[in-house]
Amino acid sequence: YAHPARDLRPERHPLAVVAHRGASEDAPEHTLAAYRKAIEDGADALECDVRLTADGHLVCVHDRRVNRTSNGRGAVSSLELADLATLDFGSWKADVSDTEAPDLDATSVLTLERLLELVADAGRRVELAIETKHPTRWAGQVEQKLLELLGRFGLAGPPADGPSPVRVMSFSARSLHRVQLSAPTLPTVYLMQFVSPRHRDGRLPAGVRIAGPSIRIIRKDPGYVARLHEAGNEVHVWTVNEPEDVELCARLGVDALITNRPRRVLTQLGRS
Ligand code: G3P
Ligand code: CA
Repeated sequence: YAHPARDLRPERHPLAVVAHRGASEDAPEHTLAAYRKAIEDGADALECDVRLTADGHLVCVHDRRVNRTSNGRGAVSSLELADLATLDFGSWKADVSDTEAPDLDATSVLTLERLLELVADAGRRVELAIETKHPTRWAGQVEQKLLELLGRFGLAGPPADGPSPVRVMSFSARSLHRVQLSAPTLPTVYLMQFVSPRHRDGRLPAGVRIAGPSIRIIRKDPGYVARLHEAGNEVHVWTVNEPEDVELCARLGVDALITNRPRRVLTQLGRS
């Protein structure tokens, strides 16, 4: 955990609003409809979880199994993309099932490739925060596929100007390390459910410059934001839905907050 010397973070930028699984309060999570809504709402970035199917496609699904968010059963890793394509990933959310004609954007499984196309066609800068789920199980295949796909969209290397519009997030330092080895300029985010003793002073795993603590960590220890900043890191907090938590993050100078309700948060921050 030795860090190279770092400058303190540059000029503070406005608090970025990241749509968690899309605008997932309004539309079924991880569907094209949820991401379209987040872009319409003005979100600065889109968060998604990625998993590998049995036939090697990266799909945007949070849970290990499809049971909660679709009408199917089984682990994503044991299903092929064609199997997932037969499932309904939208109707579990009551307000979508009332529609007269089935809205495929709100019910189909979403591949990461389709999400990258959506972002490419957004007509404005929309960043992506992509989380690798259960990366250890696949011994590097998730990261490899991810970087291949990002490479096809010209997103794996350094951008011509400005900061990278993509960052890779994980609770696994090993997963982030794999990304750093193959794509050293891609920013990585170390997600934290708890703060382990080695990270209490604000230092992160080698090469990582963005911390992703849960809002519970920040509620309990608001001073952690300053310690992370002093160690030269950005702070992206999840999942921030309640107005008092938005206010807390804004007050503490958090860099990005990840929320299920981007429109309401942008309104609260005076940005819409
Ligand atoms: O953005 C980070 C956050 O999504 C991590 O938790 O369970 O929602 O993937 P989870
Ligand atoms: Ca996630």
